[in-house]
Amino acid sequence: MRSAKDFFRPLAVGAPEPLREIPARPSRAIHFFDPSNEKMAAKVPQLVGKVDVLLGNLEDAVKADRKEAARAGLVEIAKANEFGPTQLWTRVNSLDSPWVLDDLTTLVSEIGDKLDVIMVPKVEGADDIHYVDRLLAQLEAKAGLDRPLLVHAILETARGVANVEEICGASPRMQGLSLGPADLAADRRMKTTRVGGGHPGYLVREDPVRDSDGSDQQRSTYQQDLWHYTIARMVDACAMHGMYPYYGPFGDIADTLACEDQFRNAFLLGCVGAWSLHPSQIEIARKVFSPSVEDVAHARRVVAAMGDGTGAVMLDGKMEDDASLKQCLVMVRLAEELAA
Ligand code: GLV
Ligand code: MG
Repeated sequence: MRSAKDFFRPLAVGAPEPLREIPARPSRAIHFFDPSNEKMAAKVPQLVGKVDVLLGNLEDAVKADRKEAARAGLVEIAKANEFGPTQLWTRVNSLDSPWVLDDLTTLVSEIGDKLDVIMVPKVEGADDIHYVDRLLAQLEAKAGLDRPLLVHAILETARGVANVEEICGASPRMQGLSLGPADLAADRRMKTTRVGGGHPGYLVREDPVRDSDGSDQQRSTYQQDLWHYTIARMVDACAMHGMYPYYGPFGDIADTLACEDQFRNAFLLGCVGAWSLHPSQIEIARKVFSPSVEDVAHARRVVAAMGDGTGAVMLDGKMEDDASLKQCLVMVRLAEELAA
């Protein structure tokens, strides 16, 4: 039986293990829709070509008595539409739920040729990925699919974060990881009640400055990023394994400014995209996760100035060398991938 390893086999015998060939298609916004919600499902065709990824969500936010309807709705939508440059993903139910087996068997056999990536929630370790990997290999072989489905894991339990490196390395199918801040907050017993984003209580305060009468002057406070540690761990694990890291959901739909800030922090730290829970967040993600024209122009100047890439040059009073050249190449390549 064909396994995922066959699909990702090194191209030349004796060649060093290559970077796995994950399709470098843009996925700045992963737009969630509930396939059991007729209003939302009706909007799907209008979003084709306007968003990088459309994700039919079967897990949380779909009521227990709508799980079958959501699964059947996704099959219907996938069969009725062509998706062109937009990728079709799904988030199946968690591996400890009564629905996931039917999710995987139905989706692979019915629409495996249309799906690009299967997002698996609440992944806790390599075993979870091994299970999904094996099952997908069997279902793909049965369905006669000629390309493997990729797997994306949500990092949303303390155990998952502790095992992040082994999760990334568990299968050549691994496409990426998303931060799941809401479930992760609950699992860690954080004292928040939000879906992602910051909290006004999580801050640092300036040192005190005493007036001559001994009273303290007004002191500024600076809100901190609750997700910095987890995003940084996730980004390192993904970079090590040639996968893509994503920020997950930002639940306060009306607060577009804070959403943009949260997405930008993730972009600067190395993430390639985020989830969008409302059409307004698609534009935010597209903007934030595309390098700016100015940054790309600057990066190209550094690349040109560095010639053969060795040594150091001065540009606008700043020293550039091999390491800044490599950063600039990340930016230029991302711009090229997004433009392709
Ligand atoms: C997403 O699934 C989350 O729990 O934040
Ligand atoms: Mg979750």
